[in-house]
Amino acid sequence: MVSDEIPDPWSLPIDQVDPSRAELYLHNRHGDYFRRLRQEDPVHFTAGGSFGPYWSITKFNDIVAVETNHKVFSSQPSIVIGEPTDDFVPPMFIAMDPPKHDVQRHAASPGVSPARLSDLEALIRERVGTILDGLPIGEEFNWVERVSKELTTQMLAILFDVPWEDRYLLPYWSDVSTTSEAVGIPTDMAERKRILMECLAYFTRLWHERAAAPPKFDFISLMAHNPETRDMVNDPMELIGNLMLLIVGGNDTTRNSISGGVVALNQFPRQYAKLKADPGLIPNMVSEIIRYQTPLSHMRRLATEDIEFGGKLIRKGDKVVMWYASGNRDETVIDQPDEFLIDRDRARHHMAFGFGIHRCMGNRVAEMQLRVLWEEIMKRFSHIELVGEPRRVLSNFVNGFEEVTVRLRQ
Ligand code: HEM
Repeated sequence: MVSDEIPDPWSLPIDQVDPSRAELYLHNRHGDYFRRLRQEDPVHFTAGGSFGPYWSITKFNDIVAVETNHKVFSSQPSIVIGEPTDDFVPPMFIAMDPPKHDVQRHAASPGVSPARLSDLEALIRERVGTILDGLPIGEEFNWVERVSKELTTQMLAILFDVPWEDRYLLPYWSDVSTTSEAVGIPTDMAERKRILMECLAYFTRLWHERAAAPPKFDFISLMAHNPETRDMVNDPMELIGNLMLLIVGGNDTTRNSISGGVVALNQFPRQYAKLKADPGLIPNMVSEIIRYQTPLSHMRRLATEDIEFGGKLIRKGDKVVMWYASGNRDETVIDQPDEFLIDRDRARHHMAFGFGIHRCMGNRVAEMQLRVLWEEIMKRFSHIELVGEPRRVLSNFVNGFEEVTVRLRQ
C-alpha cells in the first residue's frame, strides 16, 4: 500500500484497476494506474466501481479514434463518468450530438474568435498587470486565490460582459455546478439545485436586457440574437445547461493551468532557468503547461452500436471513458511524457483540449490568458517560489489545485 487508502496499482489484479476513484487525483497517484493500463490493458473494462461498469481508453491514438467517431461514440446524455444522482440534468451542447450541437456551438463561438481575442488582448494585459502589481513580495500567499481564480474570473466577466461588481458570482456558480456526486464529490444535491436556479434567474434577466439592446460579442448577446438560439430563454433547463458549460469551461480549466504552471516550474528548476534565459519560449511553454497539467482528466461517451475496438468488444449502451490524463502521458506518442519541457517540439500536439467536433471552443482564449500572464510575470518577478506541497482537488474530472502557497521575489 502506498497510502492508507490507495493501493499500488501493480499489486492489484488487472480487473480491479479502477482509475475513476477521485482520491487517486487528490493524492496525485493516478499516473501509475494509467501507466499500468497503457502497458497491459489499454482498452480496459471496469465492471464494478462507484460509477457502474465502464471502459477506459488510455492510449493517445485510441482516444483520437474514439473522439473522431462521434456517430458510434455519442456525447449524449453526459460527458462525465457518473450518472446524475437526481433529475436535475440540464442539456448543454458539449453533451449533444449533431445537428443540435453544431448549431449551438456555432452561435456562441464568435465570443472567442481570433478577431475578438485580438481586440481583448490589451484589456486582458491591463487586468493581469493590476492583479500582479497587487501581490505581496516576500510573503507567503495562496496563488490559486490571488492569481488563478482572480484572473479567470475577470476573463469570464469580460466574455459574458457581466457587471464588474457581480464577477465573483461566476466562479461561485462554477464551483457549485462542478461539485457533484457524478465526479466523486459528496454533495447536497438539493442545495446545489437551489443555487443553480439563482444563477438561471440572474442570466434570464441579463438575456432579456441583451436581447432588447443592439448585438454585441459577449456570449449572452450572441445567443440572444442568433435566430437558432434566441428562444433558448424559454427553455430554462437548456439555458442553465449552456450557461454552466460556458462558465465551467472557462473557469476550472484555465485556473488549474495557471496554478499548474507555477507548480511545474518549481518541480523542474532547469526549465525555470531556461524560461528566465529566454522568455521567448512562453508560447511554447503555455502548450506544455496545458499538456502536463491536463486540467480535465476525462470525457466520456456512450456506444451507439456494438464495435470491436482495440481487440475488445464494446457493446451498444456501454460507457466509454477517454482518459486525457493518460493520453497526454502516452510514451508511444509523446517523447519523455513525464518530463515538463518548455521547449518541447510540437508542444501543441497534446489532447488536453480534446479532438473532433467537441474540441475545446475556448482553447485560444486559454492559451492567450496564459501567454499574457507569463509575459507580465517575467517583467515583474525574478522568481515564484513554491512553499510546501500544493493541495490538490478531489475529483476524477477536474485535475487541479485548491492551494498553491508561494513567495515572490522581485
Ligand atoms: C470543451 C478542455 C478552456 C469552453 C472542452 C473539452 C475539453 C476542454 C477537454 C472537450 C473536448 C472534447 O470532448 O473533445 C479545456 C482546457 C482549457 C479550456 C484544458 C484550459 C486550459 C476553455 C475556455 C472556454 C472553454 C477558456 C470558454 C470560455 C469550452 C466549450 C466546450 C469545451 C464551450 C464544448 C465544446 C463542444 O462541445 O463543442 N474543453 N478547456 N474551454 N470548452 Fe474548453
